Amino acid sequence: MRSQLDGAGGLRHLATLDGLGRDMLVAILDRAESYRRFPGQPAYEGRELAGVTVSNLFFEPSTRTRASFDLAARRLGAHVLNLDMQSSSRVKGETMLDTLYTLEAMNTDIFVIRDSEPGMPDFLIDHVAPHVSVISAGEAHLSHPTQGLLDVLTIRAHKRRFAGLKVAIVGDIRHSRVARSTARALGTLGTSDLRLVAPAALLPEEAEFAGAQRFTRIEDGIAGADVVMMLRIQKERMASSAALDEAAYFREYGLNGERLRLASPSVLVMHPGPMNRGVEIASDVADGPRSVIREQVNNGVAVRMAILAAIAATLTRRRKPL
Ligand code: NCD
Repeated sequence: MRSQLDGAGGLRHLATLDGLGRDMLVAILDRAESYRRFPGQPAYEGRELAGVTVSNLFFEPSTRTRASFDLAARRLGAHVLNLDMQSSSRVKGETMLDTLYTLEAMNTDIFVIRDSEPGMPDFLIDHVAPHVSVISAGEAHLSHPTQGLLDVLTIRAHKRRFAGLKVAIVGDIRHSRVARSTARALGTLGTSDLRLVAPAALLPEEAEFAGAQRFTRIEDGIAGADVVMMLRIQKERMASSAALDEAAYFREYGLNGERLRLASPSVLVMHPGPMNRGVEIASDVADGPRSVIREQVNNGVAVRMAILAAIAATLTRRRKPL
């Protein structure tokens, strides 16, 4: 694994949460909390990224992640380029390296990258100039580090602890980079009671999610849970989408009010979005009193600000003088 830290231990890249220790995660969450503003409050406006150029390269569709990286960078004073890579040069055959060098020549300091192929964040890390940083906004089914961080920020805001929490992740875990990164963050912060709930075909390989319990009945998996995180069925990552009967899935695995009563009375209902209402989650639960789904979105901006600011702080150590 590539080092994501610079010589002084500061954050230089963020491709994965693997290898980042508890103290680092807590520092990021604390910083994110200082940036968080709730809807109706004036947004935080800072200069932490003044003179910094951020290029957002999204090779896969994204609404929330892309919008929140964009807002996060602007609220800290950055210049932001949003490149719609689906209609851009890679499709025309320009290689990824040429795109990288072109944007570096325009003084990009930080690349934010989302791609459906595994390995792209590390590929960029291997090829960027010494003063340039890379942040993953989602790598294939493997990792989505800022989503993992915003999930644990949301949980911490309500529960104030990680040890002893019962967390159930329900749905298409096999294809979910969110589940992998959130599980990693929870493990680092001390949550050991993780339950994975899915039809057998959507559970991950045995070697993954070490220590988690596996359930194929949602009622068993969410019983007594402090957090229930629902996931979207990711048809785009399945070999064939023909297999899924959405009505049958909702009957067997959908989170409805009756099932939710099996969880702890103070349960948090989470979902990274985009939601399929009536497939993995009932609308009244998604909008109900236990749902923190919109708080997750709010925390997403704060977490991305914290990551960008931490990286910008190490950037000043690496930049060439005028
Ligand atoms: C997720 C993603 O793209 O990994 N969404 C997100 O980033 N909030 C989950 C999904 O697509 O289902």
